Amino acid sequence: MVRGDSLIFRDAAIDDAEFILSLRTDPEKSRFLSYVSNDLEAQKAWLARYAQERGQAYFIIEFNGERIGTVRLYDARGDSFCWGSWILKDGRPRHAAMESALMVYAYAVDCLEFRACHFVVSKGNERVIQFHERFGAVQVGETELELLFQLDLSSIQAARRQYTEFLSSSVEVTGLQ
Ligand SMILES: CC(C)(COP(=O)(O)OP(=O)(O)OC[C@H]1O[C@@H](n2cnc3c(N)ncnc32)[C@H](O)[C@@H]1OP(=O)(O)O)[C@@H](O)C(=O)NCCC(=O)NCCS
Repeated sequence: MVRGDSLIFRDAAIDDAEFILSLRTDPEKSRFLSYVSNDLEAQKAWLARYAQERGQAYFIIEFNGERIGTVRLYDARGDSFCWGSWILKDGRPRHAAMESALMVYAYAVDCLEFRACHFVVSKGNERVIQFHERFGAVQVGETELELLFQLDLSSIQAARRQYTEFLSSSVEVTGLQ
């Protein structure tokens, strides 16, 4: 479990399949995400496979004991990690996006010792592109449908120092490898 100031990341479990599907099949939220079929058994099977694998972390984001979203760290390349599958449900607290992004960076840098980050955002997902650019993400390429971004360690640390109102210092980790 990864604990921030008010949010918790906990490993996704098979019981979360319905919740995850509800987010991923919401037409508005999934507009810029890769397609997932509305198949509960397939989602459960994916989560069962995930539980056996190493090399990625798929988290449920919780606030006050309630599930409010998901986030995933995956595709490590050298000392750079990738994150995505970032979805927050309607009714989330206003600070959830900032705190969860800062928790991803704190966990990846302080606990997993990554030194950079890479990720893709779908073209047209302007709000999310703007969100990442305010953290110092730099566009380094593009495909037909996506923009590729990178964030170096100094930008990550600068953002963490700038936004201590959302995450005061680091995260506390228990029971994860
Ligand atoms: C991606 C997602 C999790 C981001 O969460 P969000 O709550 O929409 O994020 P926002 O950009 O609206 O930011 C939330 C708040 O933080 C504020 N904020 C954002 N960046 C900020 C910054 N750098 N400094 C201060 N405040 C900031 C915003 O102004 C907003 O506050 P408001 O509600 O008072 O306007 C959410 O939009 C989502 O679930 N989208 C669908 C799935 C998706 O596209 N995921 C991304 C795949 S790459």
